[in-house]
Amino acid sequence: MSNIRWGLLSTANINRRLIPAIRASARGELVAVASRSQASAQAYANEWDIPQAFGSYEAMLASDAVDAVYISLPNHLHAEWSIKAMQHGKHVLCEKPFALTLDEVDEMTAVSQQTNRVLTEAFMYRHHPQTKIVGEMVRNGRLGRITVVRAVFNFAFTTRENIRLVPEMGGGCLWDVGVYPLSFAQYVMGGPPQQVFGTQWLGESGVDEVFSGQMVYANGAMAQISSSFCTPFHTQVEIIGTEGRLVLNRPFIGHNDGDRTLIFYPNEGGPEEIDVPEKELYLGEIEDLHAAVLDGQAQYLSLDETRNHVKTVLALYESARTGQVITL
Ligand SMILES: NC(=O)c1ccc[n+]([C@@H]2O[C@H](COP(=O)([O-])OP(=O)(O)OC[C@H]3O[C@@H](n4cnc5c(N)ncnc54)[C@H](OP(=O)(O)O)[C@@H]3O)[C@@H](O)[C@H]2O)c1
Repeated sequence: MSNIRWGLLSTANINRRLIPAIRASARGELVAVASRSQASAQAYANEWDIPQAFGSYEAMLASDAVDAVYISLPNHLHAEWSIKAMQHGKHVLCEKPFALTLDEVDEMTAVSQQTNRVLTEAFMYRHHPQTKIVGEMVRNGRLGRITVVRAVFNFAFTTRENIRLVPEMGGGCLWDVGVYPLSFAQYVMGGPPQQVFGTQWLGESGVDEVFSGQMVYANGAMAQISSSFCTPFHTQVEIIGTEGRLVLNRPFIGHNDGDRTLIFYPNEGGPEEIDVPEKELYLGEIEDLHAAVLDGQAQYLSLDETRNHVKTVLALYESARTGQVITL
């Protein structure tokens, strides 16, 4: 096998970002889309010029024409369809949040091992050069000892008809966009927190529409994260160390989507803007799966890291529900 033939499992909105990335990749080919009806699969295939349209998810999984699937279903279906896909011999790129319970994560991981299929969480920003530069600066001590990470991802809905507002579908702003600040903090700190404290505003929908979390790490460092469904679009990460401060105004999105800057404020001297090479935001996760399948390379975002993302979200929700500090 020298190329990966991709199938999209659903006609979700987010696919529009993955399709150009698959097509831009050196070893990927978009061959199929599956939807819950043949008509919608066919209409989508026509719109995006995709060769094959399947009228059910099962039908695409049963096809020998597909090597890997991109799971862009509502959150509560990620585990079920990732597992089915691997059992049908497909490699899986599964959208964030990967799963809604640790049992689901563990079952998905076990099936990946049993079937020898690559399974990975689609955190596109983790693969971007900007994130890797930040990681190098943190690990080579440029910021000194990290004291606090402050990170935010907010946006406001234009309509209330959305899977993110349905509790049974794994709705909620922490599951949806709070996982970005949360996973960024974990990346900087090198692991999950030891203790968390969360607070939330529940909306009429019954899901958290504002969530704020405080997290404490083994070395005493702290992170403050927040997310929202009801305030203007805003993303930022600030990493504060004893030798300086690093500020990302577009930590999770592509350059074409905004005026991305990465600025280092050292303790002495003026601010320094750090150059970040351009890269299509969603390409890295696609290429990473190709390297894992075709070259046997370890996947860049490990399933241990993914498990810790889910574990931390669950602890924060438990804290918000109970009003208690939760120890992980
Ligand atoms: N990484 C990122 O940048 C990013 C950005 C946005 C979203 N996401 C993630 O991607 C996933 C999809 O988000 P989205 O906003 O793109 O979703 P969406 O547009 O609402 O699409 C979800 C798709 O799931 C399928 N589906 C199956 N059962 C369904 C049900 N009971 N109700 C509704 N849809 C159902 C539908 O496809 P068919 O009708 O074709 O079967 C639908 O098009 C979420 O997990 C989200 O967290 C990631």
